[in-house]
Amino acid sequence: MINDDVSGHFDEPDIDLEQSLRPKDFIGFSGQDKVVERLLLMIEAAQHREDVLEHILLCGPPGLGKTTLASIISQTVGANLHTVSGPQIDKAADLAGVLTNLTKGDILFIDEIHRLHPAIEEYLYPAMEDYKLDIMIDSGPSARSVELKLPKFTLVGATTRSGSLTAPLRSRFGLLNRMDYYKVESLSAILLRSADLLGVELLPEGAREIALRSRGTPRIANNLLRWVRDYTQVRAKGIIDQPVAVAALQMIDIDEDGLDEMDKQILEALIHKFNGTAVGLNTLAMALGEESSTIEEVNEPFLMMKGFIKRTPRGRVAMPAAYEKFGLQVPRGLKQEQPELFQ
Ligand SMILES: Nc1ncnc2c1ncn2[C@@H]1O[C@H](COP(=O)(O)OP(=O)(O)OP(=O)(O)O)[C@@H](O)[C@H]1O
Ligand SMILES: [Mg+2]
Repeated sequence: MINDDVSGHFDEPDIDLEQSLRPKDFIGFSGQDKVVERLLLMIEAAQHREDVLEHILLCGPPGLGKTTLASIISQTVGANLHTVSGPQIDKAADLAGVLTNLTKGDILFIDEIHRLHPAIEEYLYPAMEDYKLDIMIDSGPSARSVELKLPKFTLVGATTRSGSLTAPLRSRFGLLNRMDYYKVESLSAILLRSADLLGVELLPEGAREIALRSRGTPRIANNLLRWVRDYTQVRAKGIIDQPVAVAALQMIDIDEDGLDEMDKQILEALIHKFNGTAVGLNTLAMALGEESSTIEEVNEPFLMMKGFIKRTPRGRVAMPAAYEKFGLQVPRGLKQEQPELFQ
């Protein structure tokens, strides 16, 4: 089936494409106005004091620009960027290696910081707070702790699960930033910029149509643009207008709400398999053969923002909008609720 094959090709981000489209400075970065405003202020204040930037935490669903922001921050303050991922550091020695490699003002970006081992996290506390590292050398009776002085650095942590960050770690960040799904206008601006870089002729109505179906996510918007570009080369005259964008996206089953296959399966399971009752996350994940963490971090935030589902103390419930989406009658007693607005 051609549709499945084509949409499958969006699951994994295209690394080269991501790199080439990633904005290098705040000017190229659209949306997330609040986050950007705070970061700019913080950078200006630190530069004014000739001090090192405080530690920054970036939280939010995948593809919203956490990694992009980390590199923009380092670029703006003119600092070296060192990137590691939480699960990569599985021994205290790994962390010590990374930290002792830093020079004053450097930015250490720890992606998926919620996946740091708890024992490693404890080494991070004094490093963040007092710029020192206590490491144990030797074991048994000759074991002793050695204190290493570290240069003053900035930790930028990224996480898709701010809830699973421990309180002590969270409290050591100077600034916590929640990234939200993008407004259609911001996504359109991102798409027009990407089209320019790719040398594709994209009209504003075409950009808007792709933006509407991008799940509020720049990574998805760019991936859809790549498909629409291919479609346009073969089926249209090279110009992406609104009808061309619609036709291209319909061909890969991307609906007007931007829901992907797993989003739809979740809604269908809640409505049909579980007959509209509240369902626990693990039960839902098991029924769909999906990791519960993926459902919780990737699908649910978007479905909740669109008002399709709601989390209750008893579990997840499909909301009237979900029934309406599939042309079903809304069960009596299910209250209509306003979806949360795009930030
Ligand atoms: N505000 C933005 N303006 C322009 N492009 C953006 C913006 N945010 C993200 N992008 C684009 O989306 C892509 C994905 O962003 P990024 O890799 O920074 O997301 P992420 O939050 O780190 O995702 P993950 O949680 O999966 O690591 C980038 O390569 C970039 O091209
Ligand atoms: Mg990232």
